Amino acid sequence: MIHGPFFLSEALMQRTAIAALSGQDQLDATVAGFVTTIRVLKRMVFVIVQDKSGRVQVTIERAQPGTMPTELETATLGLTIGSVVRVRGTVVANATVKTGGLELVARSLEVVGPAEPGLPIDEHSASDLQLDWRFLALRRPENLLVFEVQTTVERAMRDYWAAHEFLELHSPKLMHSASESGADTFSTRYFDLGSAYLAQSPQFYKQMAIAAGFERVFEIGPVFRAEPSLTPRHAAEFTSVDVEMAWVESHEDVMQMEERWLHHILSAAHREHGEAIEHTFGVTVNVPPATFPRLTMREAHALLRQMGHALAEATKPGDIDPAGERLLARWALDTHGSEFIFLTEYPSSLRPFYHMRAEHDPSVTKSFDLMWKGVEITTGAQREHRHDVLSRQAEGMGLRKSVAYYLDFFRYGCPPHGGFGLGLARLVMLLLGLPSIREATFLHRGPTRLTP
Ligand code: 4AD
Ligand code: MG
Repeated sequence: MIHGPFFLSEALMQRTAIAALSGQDQLDATVAGFVTTIRVLKRMVFVIVQDKSGRVQVTIERAQPGTMPTELETATLGLTIGSVVRVRGTVVANATVKTGGLELVARSLEVVGPAEPGLPIDEHSASDLQLDWRFLALRRPENLLVFEVQTTVERAMRDYWAAHEFLELHSPKLMHSASESGADTFSTRYFDLGSAYLAQSPQFYKQMAIAAGFERVFEIGPVFRAEPSLTPRHAAEFTSVDVEMAWVESHEDVMQMEERWLHHILSAAHREHGEAIEHTFGVTVNVPPATFPRLTMREAHALLRQMGHALAEATKPGDIDPAGERLLARWALDTHGSEFIFLTEYPSSLRPFYHMRAEHDPSVTKSFDLMWKGVEITTGAQREHRHDVLSRQAEGMGLRKSVAYYLDFFRYGCPPHGGFGLGLARLVMLLLGLPSIREATFLHRGPTRLTP
């Protein structure tokens, strides 16, 4: 028996990881996994079996014509694609076999979990059908890679912050009021207290941690947006990566932290999966430069005018449309060699009430968005920590009453602070060049999807 990386304890079913079969010529092995292909020839049956580590060709010899088929042959001929099998046999090096240059010549085959005949999807099915049968789509190796990369990315995020004395939070997702804007909230009945809202962001609570003296915090958790949009960048529920730190001088300090943090994350992705990503998705993972170019929104508008770009009609005053964002991304790549660009000083009218306004011009905020490959991945800002100013800004947006408990956080002293939020699936989508965040999410939630 060869013990592969799956052999963790005596209690587990004994089997060899398929990737560990190479170099085991002429030895006995048991493998277990899904049947992905069955090819029946006159004298042989070839079955491809796949586990998490790889695929192997299982070869079954058929009985001579006119003689009784063996139990093994009968079991093999009754197999269906997708079934879970356990196969025992001998490893035989065979250069003509495309999958790994070896085959497992079977002695026995056991169907542990039969699949109904005829899988509902294959790799060519429409993307919505792929989502209907997500667990089957996820069996494809390229989809496994998505979540291996996501795991590495999340670990690198946590490692960086843990090394810099950030505490990890888990804040409640049931809230008394909307955390970003009133429009896009899901609500539900909440005992005798009336309505509760699903958190759109841990924004208020990460700031509460600052008022509590934690100084540096982060949270990676679910948030909910009742946006009816069906774009490739939006989900109704997504994993938000949030950070907040005290004693910043301005949003510039937050941007510098994000640059160093992303450098650490993309270095890890490059080191651990760069080759696999290039091979599977044809995308190069570039470790970003130490600093990303920055443009204030005013400068960005001037640049777009220079380029002759006319903003889409629906664009809010002072905002930039997606086509404009893509132009700015191209400019950053061409002139600074950077896939990233910070846009700063958004107009106050476009930002939530808790963003601090600029000292030199209160019509703009000390805030930023980070664009990667032309798509927004982060919004961040220095927050308004002065209770009187914050209250006035909440009042100005008609929110003073509903966020009274949040305003309380600032009544008994709060240090200056800032932070940002980043959508995990957007980062993974852009890292791998996937067509939408649906492919970068374990299970998508959108206006037309609540199952599986
Ligand atoms: O830009 P957003 O709405 O900002 C906030 O939530 C603030 N509380 C952040 C802060 O600390 N100032 O969301 C942050 C990020 C976006 O940049 C985007 O990457 C992602 O979350 N995001 C979404 N991802 C998927 N689906 C959606 N509907 C998203 N909405 C935002
Ligand atoms: Mg934003």
